[in-house]
Amino acid sequence: MNISGSLRSNPKRKEDPAKMRYDRNAWCFDFQDSLFGHMLAKRKHEMIRQAKGTVLEVGIGTGKSLSHYPEGVELVGIDISPKMLARAEARSKDFPGKLTLKVADVQSLDFPDNSFDIVVTSCVFCSVTDPVQGFREINRVLKPGGMGLHLEHGRSNHRVIGKIMDILNPVVVRMMGANINRDHAHNIRKSGLRILDEEDLWLDILKLFKTGKETVPQL
Ligand SMILES: C[S@@+](CC[C@H](N)C(=O)[O-])C[C@H]1O[C@@H](n2cnc3c(N)ncnc32)[C@H](O)[C@@H]1O
Repeated sequence: MNISGSLRSNPKRKEDPAKMRYDRNAWCFDFQDSLFGHMLAKRKHEMIRQAKGTVLEVGIGTGKSLSHYPEGVELVGIDISPKMLARAEARSKDFPGKLTLKVADVQSLDFPDNSFDIVVTSCVFCSVTDPVQGFREINRVLKPGGMGLHLEHGRSNHRVIGKIMDILNPVVVRMMGANINRDHAHNIRKSGLRILDEEDLWLDILKLFKTGKETVPQL
């Protein structure tokens, strides 16, 4: 399989920091993520088993999700980092459906409106530069009646834990590039997507959001 696509280039804009970081760290991502990835594997499996029809996975990374998909899905996996995608391609041999891998930025997708039954994200929105714009694009490409499945870590609403996350965030962003205090519920609503369900999986930090298309964006 070939990886298609390239990022829409704008010479005046600096390269996205997430692309630079994940390109740089693709070679060791699986090792770095092994503990956290292991903790999430069961949840990720349960989420991804629900995918059917035409599916978009945003930020598919090194393709660790590929083995969780049920037979017969038509999956498009995108990532801003070509080097992460190259690793996903190496994992794609036994994929039980139709798979396309494409370099793309969730903040500016080139799919037509209403393209996908399901959009999956897992641990992606901590590093998307403009998360509201990313969710806005997901809202656009999701079919009416389709569903977004988002396994994401963000800011805890617990008073003390949330404050600690705010204090640590600049250090973590500097070291790892990931924000640990994002308010995904707020960002999702602001994008116009509708939250159908919000499940707290751990300390109000790790959450599974189910979202649906909202035709009239909320201001
Ligand atoms: C922490 S990794 C998670 C990878 C994978 N979802 C997983 O759970 O193993 C985050 C991924 O999101 C991708 N990413 C970050 N910003 C993105 C964007 N704007 N558009 C598409 N992918 C993006 C990164 O390149 C990286 O592969």
